[in-house]
This record gives sequence, C-alpha cells and structure tokens, in this order.
Amino acid sequence: MHDPVAARFSEAAGRYEQVARIQAQAAFQFDAWLAQLGLPAPACIAEIGCGTGLFTRLLHARHPAARLHATDLAPAMVERCRAGFPPAPHLQFTVCDGRYAHFEPMPDWIVSTMCFQWFDPLLPALEQHFSGTRVLAFSILLDGSFTEWRAAHERLGRVPGLHACPDYDTLLRACDTLSGGRMDTERISLTEQHPDGQSFARSLRAIGADQPRAGHQPANLRPVFRQMEQGIAANYEIGFFCLHK
Ligand SMILES: C[S@@+](CC[C@H](N)C(=O)[O-])C[C@H]1O[C@@H](n2cnc3c(N)ncnc32)[C@H](O)[C@@H]1O
Repeated sequence: MHDPVAARFSEAAGRYEQVARIQAQAAFQFDAWLAQLGLPAPACIAEIGCGTGLFTRLLHARHPAARLHATDLAPAMVERCRAGFPPAPHLQFTVCDGRYAHFEPMPDWIVSTMCFQWFDPLLPALEQHFSGTRVLAFSILLDGSFTEWRAAHERLGRVPGLHACPDYDTLLRACDTLSGGRMDTERISLTEQHPDGQSFARSLRAIGADQPRAGHQPANLRPVFRQMEQGIAANYEIGFFCLHK
C-alpha cells in the first residue's frame, strides 16, 4: 500500500477499538450533538473516514432504514467496519480517498468523525462535499491539541512531528462563508491522562495516527520523555460542525 496514512491506519485496524477511547467518546458526543440539532431524517448517508465504525454504528442505530455508504482510505479499516454489521442491501462499504470521493446518488448527509484533520488542503474538500449534499456534518481535531507534548518540544527548540490541525476560528469563518451562515458548531475538549510520554506516543501509534507531517526529521525523543516522567495530560481539542442548506 503506497499511501503511508492508509498503511498505518490499516495496520492498526485490529487493535483500534481497544485503544481509541477518545475517538469513541468523541463519536458518542458528536452523535448526540447532531441528533439534538433536529435536522430532517436522512434517507441516504455517506460517511468519509469511517475507521472501524465507531460512529457508523451510532449513525445506523439512529437511522436504521437509511441507506448508508461507509468509506475509508485504509482497506483493513473498511473491513472491520463492514464486520460490525449484518449484510444488508442498504449498507455499503468502500475503500476510497475521501478527499476526492464523489457519491452517487447524492446523499442527504455526508458525515465524518475525526478524519478531516488529515486533509490538506481541507477547504477544497469541504467545498466539494458540501456541493454534493444537503448536510455536511463532521468532527475534527483542532489546533491547540496536545499542548504538553508540543511545549516539551518547544523547550528543546524543536517542532514535534504532529500534523498541523486547523484553527477553530479560521475554520468557523470558512464554514460560515461556505454555508451562507446556515451552520451549527461547537467545540469540546477531551483529556486522556498518560503515565509518561512513551505511553502517549504509543497511543498515537496504536490507533495508526502516527504518520509524521511532511518534512519532519525524526529526532531522539528521550529529552522529551524526560520532561514527562510525572505523566502527561493529552488534550484533544475537537470541533463539531454541521453545514446545511
Ligand atoms: C482517527 S481515525 C477516525 C475513524 C473513525 N471515524 C472514528 O471516529 O473512530 C481517522 C480515519 O480517517 C481515515 N483517513 C485518513 N485519511 C483519509 C482519506 N484521505 N480518505 C478517507 N479516509 C481517510 C483513516 O484511515 C482512519 O480510519
């Protein structure tokens, strides 16, 4: 598999749900948030970056009769997701790159949880997907996440290998313009306590989210870990967005 992001997530698919506690919590909260918006029930939903199906299963439980097309870049993730459902003609699972996916027939909703932070550039993909649906709803990891990990690198004059994530206010303005003001949004913060820096680094590797940003030169992490011997509170800043027509 030549896409390194797909390769890492595929490799992690078998253990993902044992370690993805924050993603499970975020999916649960996003599902509840979306439900309380009171949108008309969808007959057809497409999901981008379904992973093993944490959000897909919640979505299906809320809209059991809706046609649901779950997609992901990583083949093993798609297979895990598929395995979570009994075979049914209105459920479809496909491997595809969500940046360029085009769904036919046009879904009422396009949804995604904790995936769009991998899209660079993000805005053209949001524009394309919003032009192909009535509702574009997603959760996304935001700038400001992993403060302690970043600060430990900065004290050493380093930049961590983490991908840059979108800034909430900038994304909010872009989504507001894209939807002509017809949008809902909220931001939440979830924290996972780790006994040390190695445990935090392992947790990203365990879910497959450890592909470093382009141009990152790996460096010895021991001086980073030394700053976290008392533990690290890994904060996940997460944006919920729902653009509708
Ligand atoms: C952190 S996981 C989230 C999975 C799931 N939505 C959840 O909430 O648990 C990110 C997922 O995005 C997928 N992904 C990353 N880049 C993608 C792309 N360009 N197109 C589709 N999926 C992508 C990964 O394979 C992975 O399954």
